[in-house]
Amino acid sequence: MKDVYIMGIESSCDETSVAIVKNGRDVLSNIINSQINIHEKFGGVVPEIASRCHVEVINGIMKEALKEANLEVNQIDGIAVTYGPGLVGALLVGVSYAKALSFATGIPLIPTNHIAGHISANYITHKDLEPPFLCLIVSGGHTHLVNVKSYTKFEILGKTRDDAIGEAFDKVARVVGLGYPGGPKVDKLAKEGKPNIELPLAKIDNLDFSFSGIKTAVINLNHKNPNMNKADLCASFQKAVTEMLLRNVIKSIDTYKVDKISLAGGVSSNSYIRAEFDKFGKERNIKILYPELKLCTDNAAMIAAQGYYNFIEGIRGDLNLNAIPNLKLN
Ligand code: KG4
Ligand code: ZN
Repeated sequence: MKDVYIMGIESSCDETSVAIVKNGRDVLSNIINSQINIHEKFGGVVPEIASRCHVEVINGIMKEALKEANLEVNQIDGIAVTYGPGLVGALLVGVSYAKALSFATGIPLIPTNHIAGHISANYITHKDLEPPFLCLIVSGGHTHLVNVKSYTKFEILGKTRDDAIGEAFDKVARVVGLGYPGGPKVDKLAKEGKPNIELPLAKIDNLDFSFSGIKTAVINLNHKNPNMNKADLCASFQKAVTEMLLRNVIKSIDTYKVDKISLAGGVSSNSYIRAEFDKFGKERNIKILYPELKLCTDNAAMIAAQGYYNFIEGIRGDLNLNAIPNLKLN
């Protein structure tokens, strides 16, 4: 069978990325331009600035992705672009660029869901992984437990009722004075602390999650006692959110009788979460899979990987394709 080369374009938040992936699994290039340094001084992503930065760099990044893959644009079989969920202005840059490139070259346009892309990062790292499997998506905007029924069909089993887990990490980091982006900083500081502070876990009887109670408890503790050991606070926060995640994973494994579960999204690079999931996997004889670290946070290779499976399924977009900031996973 002829090889299929998909170009992925990602601009849903503060990373501009273009990648070329062969047959959904082999990354030929994955150029990522992070705007973290620009947003850092504002303590979070400023949507208008993010859009402008995407516009400035996207064309150069596309050219770099082709060059690194050693391909000409006419060798590309499909252009997969993130059209949601994400920041509307940021998404529009990638969508408009992909539409223009598709129109100019005649290469098919493939609308791709960002969350599905996070799941597909696992296909790149684990070459034999095939649906069905369960995936826990833990990112800055989402916390979903998903039954991946096929490459393009998903059933959401549970989701957060309030904050996304990454949002809670970022807020805790800001409150204890670590700055943005918070997740990696909390991860690092927690290594120096002990998880010796009891934090409240919301009681939920289905497979949903809740992180705002844990987050608020950390904020209040820090406020009441500014001299509190920040490393212990971070370690305790990580322990509590990991317990919240594992609680539902345990329930879903028993219900769905699965022998493997994958994680995806920026927070899946957290070292404590990985260690606890690995321990759990060993105890219960469940295979725990993660994308390699570079593929956990936003990147276009994951969009190209998902785009490949969308392409095979015949999913196509046209010039009417629009950005959908609150796009759902179907
Ligand atoms: O998946 P992602 O890059 O973007 C979204 O689609 O949201 O996730 C970004 C989130 C941020 O909240 C960031 O703080 C968090 O992932 N993150 C981490 C770590 N690395 C990134 N959270 C905890 N520990 C980490 N090591
Ligand atoms: Zn993401």
